[in-house]
Amino acid sequence: MARLQNKVVLVTGAANGIGAATVARFAAEGAVVVATDIDEAAGRAVVAEVAAGGGRAEFRTQDVSDEEGWIRVTAHALTAHGRIDVLVNNAGIYIISPLAETTLEDWNRLMAVNVTGVFLGMKHTAPKMAENGGGAILNLSSIAGLVGVAGHTLYGASKGAVRTMSKDVAAEYAAANVRVNSIHPTYVKTAMAEYGAAAAGSTLEALGPKLSPLGRIAEPADVVNFLVFLASDEASYLTGSEYTIDGGGTTLISLG
Ligand SMILES: NC(=O)c1ccc[n+]([C@@H]2O[C@H](COP(=O)([O-])OP(=O)(O)OC[C@H]3O[C@@H](n4cnc5c(N)ncnc54)[C@H](O)[C@@H]3O)[C@@H](O)[C@H]2O)c1
Repeated sequence: MARLQNKVVLVTGAANGIGAATVARFAAEGAVVVATDIDEAAGRAVVAEVAAGGGRAEFRTQDVSDEEGWIRVTAHALTAHGRIDVLVNNAGIYIISPLAETTLEDWNRLMAVNVTGVFLGMKHTAPKMAENGGGAILNLSSIAGLVGVAGHTLYGASKGAVRTMSKDVAAEYAAANVRVNSIHPTYVKTAMAEYGAAAAGSTLEALGPKLSPLGRIAEPADVVNFLVFLASDEASYLTGSEYTIDGGGTTLISLG
């Protein structure tokens, strides 16, 4: 089944974790993927594997906090592929830090990637999508953009900003048929979540039952399955919304 047949998709943070899984699955669904990351070696390995399987993906080195990089990458996608149908604003970094110990340096570094990166991505693709009759922007937020977690003032602020920016751009570009939504996963089995579990003095296995009544944290595929839908024409009526992928963790209470 090719639910994204010939869609031109830009995926940031594509060298590892959720981004790498997105590149592989989107290509398998027929998309033409421009995969970008600062981690060139891992990014090239991701697209090489896609190509070996007959899929279409290419890698471009890009730091999402740099506007010149966005201008370069979007110009390349438009020249090489004619349009950008979908942007997956996935690149992100995670710092857990008690409020009083959070440095301004860490604040600025994280905001530059998680907030400025998402802003620049939307700024440089939404108008191009509009010129082409529409498109979809998928912004990776987190449950930390919805609920409070100790030690998450910095990360939560960034993911809360992703949530509201998504709605603002969705409102501005709805008439142009550019759909913008935010995605809010719980811990997903990647290096980022490994860091979070270690910082809590725990493991992802032990955190599973605490974070979800389903008894486990998410796999990258649990997120990517939804991203395929949201990027596809099946989701043509969905914009300005936030989608929680958390195994019921933020909404279900257990008395047992
Ligand atoms: N893994 C989780 O538990 C989880 C939960 C909720 C939300 N998220 C969000 O999902 C997204 C992906 O997370 P992940 O778990 O795959 O993380 P990851 O750490 O496994 O991968 C992140 C990727 O982003 C890249 N990156 C970092 N800074 C960059 C920059 N300045 N420019 C371009 N690329 C950069 C890294 O090189 C890496 O390849 C992030 O936005 C994250 O905040 C993750």
